[in-house]
Amino acid sequence: MLRAMVFTMAAIMVGGSAAAAEPDGDPIARGGAIYREHCASCHGAEAQGAPNWEEPNAAGELPPPPHGPEGHTWRHSDDELRHMIAKGWRDPFNRTQRLTMPAFGAILSDAEIAAVIAYLKTLWTDEQRAFQARRNAEKNAGETPR
Ligand code: HEC
Repeated sequence: MLRAMVFTMAAIMVGGSAAAAEPDGDPIARGGAIYREHCASCHGAEAQGAPNWEEPNAAGELPPPPHGPEGHTWRHSDDELRHMIAKGWRDPFNRTQRLTMPAFGAILSDAEIAAVIAYLKTLWTDEQRAFQARRNAEKNAGETPR
């Protein structure tokens, strides 16, 4: 299972050759559609994030960040992104305990989460994509079973 996922992600990274495994064709186009349906309401139609996304709001929660070059999505490995999207996420310094980033594991399939991550990668600069690819390589080296 994990091996299959790693293989799928590797295939997407080498240029969308996982399309054959995608029932609806191009995973990036599919990921864009998933983004607009499930993510844009919080992260913005252009993935620009909420206004003042760097400052905690009145409740002491960090607002939805942008996913483009000005954000920090690109700093996370594929594993981390998959985890945040499937299980949800909150900044550890938020004053509340709730998952401000909702869990999509029961709503989106593994392939849909992989597709939306493939789409997010299109929003980064070449340097950010290269940085993130190195993060993946570091993570996969040594392959600790989880
Ligand atoms: C209800 C609003 C909401 C929706 C809908 C939502 N998010 Fe989020 N997301 C957030 C918030 C808020 C954060 C910031 C959490 C924090 O760091 O405290 C976040 C953080 C993230 C992060 C981590 C970014 C980083 O650099 O730390 C990723 C990745 C992400 N969201 C992806 C998605 C994707 C993909 C979808 C759609 C499948 C989605 N989000 C839908 C609110 C949302």
